[in-house]
Parts: sequence; C-alpha cells; structure tokens
Amino acid sequence: MTQQQTVLRDAMRRLNMTRDAFAARIGVSRRALDTWLLPDESPESRAMPEIAARYVGEILARMPEGSASTQSAYPIEFEGRPQLLSIDQFSRESAEALFRTADMMQPIARRRKITRVLEGAVLANLFFEASTRTRVSFGAAFCRLGGSVCDTTGFTFSSMAKGESIYDTSRVISGYADAIVVRHPEQGSVAEFARATNIPVINAGDGPGEHPSQALLDLYTIQREFSRLGKIVDGAHIAMVGDLKYGRTVHSLAKLLSLHKGLKFTLVSPASLEMPAHIVERIGRGGHVIEQTSDLRAGLANADVVYATRIQKERFADESIEGYTPDFQINRALVDDVCGRDTLIMHPLPRDSRPGANDLATDLNHDSRLAIFRQTDNGIAVRMAIFAALLGVENQVRHSMRDATWKSPASVGPDDAVFHGFD
Ligand code: NCD
Repeated sequence: MTQQQTVLRDAMRRLNMTRDAFAARIGVSRRALDTWLLPDESPESRAMPEIAARYVGEILARMPEGSASTQSAYPIEFEGRPQLLSIDQFSRESAEALFRTADMMQPIARRRKITRVLEGAVLANLFFEASTRTRVSFGAAFCRLGGSVCDTTGFTFSSMAKGESIYDTSRVISGYADAIVVRHPEQGSVAEFARATNIPVINAGDGPGEHPSQALLDLYTIQREFSRLGKIVDGAHIAMVGDLKYGRTVHSLAKLLSLHKGLKFTLVSPASLEMPAHIVERIGRGGHVIEQTSDLRAGLANADVVYATRIQKERFADESIEGYTPDFQINRALVDDVCGRDTLIMHPLPRDSRPGANDLATDLNHDSRLAIFRQTDNGIAVRMAIFAALLGVENQVRHSMRDATWKSPASVGPDDAVFHGFD
C-alpha cells in the first residue's frame, strides 16, 4: 500500500492540484482520498480500489514525463559530477522528482520497513561547525539505507588544526569513503572540497552561503502540510523572519521557493540583518511580490507560512541587533492574534531558548500549526532520497524493502500525538 501513497502524492504534485481538486478529478470524495494517503500503520488507512489505481495510472501516463518519473531522469550534478553544493542545481521538476523518492523512503524513515541498498558503503560526515540535527540526520539517513558512517567534528581534533588544506583533506577522505557530507564556516569552502574529489560531496552548510538539503526538506514539508490543508505552493504568502543576512537556510529556501508561481514574500528582519540584495533580486526575477519590513506584527498578517530563524551571532562582524527586542518574538499570543488557523510555523532549528533570545517561543509546542518537528522528521526521508540519487540506487529501494523487526512507538514525540493518523 506504501506504493499507493507515493503514486497519489506524485500525481497531485505533477498535476499541481489540491486534494479537493484531485479528488474531484478522479471522481472520489476528499475523505476517501485522505484515507488512501494515510500511512499503512494508521487504523484509518485504506487500500485504493483497483479501478481508481488504474485511472490514476492512466492520468500519469498521459503526462509529458510518463508514469515512471524517477529521480534518475534528474541526476543531482554539479559540473558533471554527482554533488549537491547549491540549491541552484534544482528546477521545480527535479526537486519534485526527489520528493517522489523521499515519499518512497517514508516507511523506512518511520521505522516500519528496512532496506540495505547501501550495504558496504561508507559515509564521511565532516563537520567543522556546530551541528546536532544536520550531522545526525545525514548519518542516520545513510545508516537507514544500510551504509555505515565515520565522522569528525570541529577543527581542534582534525588535521586542519595542523594546517592541512581543504584539497588534501578532501582527497585523503575520498580514499576512505563513498560520500562526503561537509559543513564548514567559510562560504565556498564546500565547493573547494568538491573540486578535490570524484566521490559525491554534499554541502551541509558553508558559512553564510547555502544549506541546500535544509531547503529541500523545508519545501518538502511545506508541500506535505499544504496537501493536508488543501493548498498548493503557487500563490502562497511566505513570511521569513529573523537573521536573513547570515541565515543560510533562508538563502537556499527563498531561491527554491521562487521556482513556483505568484508567491508573496514578506522579509521581516532588523534593518542590519536584511536579506542580501542578490537573493532579493533573484526572487524578484521570478515575478514574485516582495515586501521588506522590520514590523513583525504587520509582516505576519495573512501569511500561509511563517519561517523563523535564529540570530547568527557567531557570524556577526560589527552588526548591531538594535530593534531586535522582545516584540520580535514569535509566540502563541502573536500567532493567535495575527495568523490564521492554517498558518504553518516553521524554523530550521536550533531555536535559542535562553532568556532574552527572542527566538521562536516554546509556548506553541503543542499547537498543530507548529511544524518544526515534522520538518526534522521529514529530513530523514529527504536526506535518504539525496543519497539514493547521488549513489544511483533509487530504483532498487522499492523492491529491497522488508518489514522492520523491532518494536517502535506509534508516534515518536508528545507533539506529534495530535497528528496521529492525520497525514
Ligand atoms: C541551521 C544552520 O546550521 O544553518 N541549522 C540547521 O542546519 N538546521 C540554522 C542555525 O544554525 O541557526
């Protein structure tokens, strides 16, 4: 049945239809479609009748790319090599093909199934900057595909502290591993790693530059949440809030979102931390409406997505954050006041929860609009899809899946209990 969810999501994405429009197109009720999209383990999940499956198959077969649009039709490449360095490598179609693979990975990410398609492969996870989720989720994604992970963290315990160049480090690791994930504080440094090797390199954050895998998992989350809420990404209003100058996640996400049509971007930041001009210009070229403001309350009004970010103090030269007062905090009172029932509240995490930080407050933790842990959960499926594409195994995954044998809880955290059986 897992296959049915992947096919239905792929069909809706490629037809660019809301659930209601798609249900009408295939002549079923929205409720029936919802039950076909639920994960197999949900008590309300239902198998799609044979005739509906055949009809959806026919609709897909008539589409320009045919019925089996696989990721391999859109390789992730940089200068002819399998590398993920920038979100500029993606078109709307190639991102959506990757999401199809990510949908296929969901039962593995949710620990219902296992695969060993990367058995024997080794990932080198090289993190020269602080990280919790990116490092662990890339590692966990590789392990869930059957591979193994070797990692190093920080400069102190690496040979870079002895003056070793990026070239030498990259070339040496290439003899040990089958893929390298790198995070480094300098913009452009991961591209330098990539030039010194023929094995796949993934940029997990290069200073204030880019963070492409985060942008992909963010857009994937927006699409899945919008699907449930009966919306599509075209025409959406996205408010990005916080440190838009140094926040690499918003740089990559703004570029990826701008591949859609008719968006409205409200960029909310203190004057000293505005979105870099080249990104604003890039969004502008897509014909989207852009508003820049330092007024949080006005900026959030009518937003479909509020994407909050942490102030990147570690990257400050001489910026002041004057004006970044407690009224800059996104909390329950503000969200209840100016946002709708369907507004998604997102954040790449980590959020700074220390007193006076003015980051996203914790009083929204049990509010279903808060999508931050669904973002992190989705990160596993999307990073598995990235590895599968770069290492050329995406077409082997489906047939390799077996049932997981251990016991795991129905929902992994108290926050997602509100979402149980609701996908
Ligand atoms: C972000 C990063 O490192 O760019 N975190 C992440 O990868 N999810 C955001 C941040 O550090 O504020």
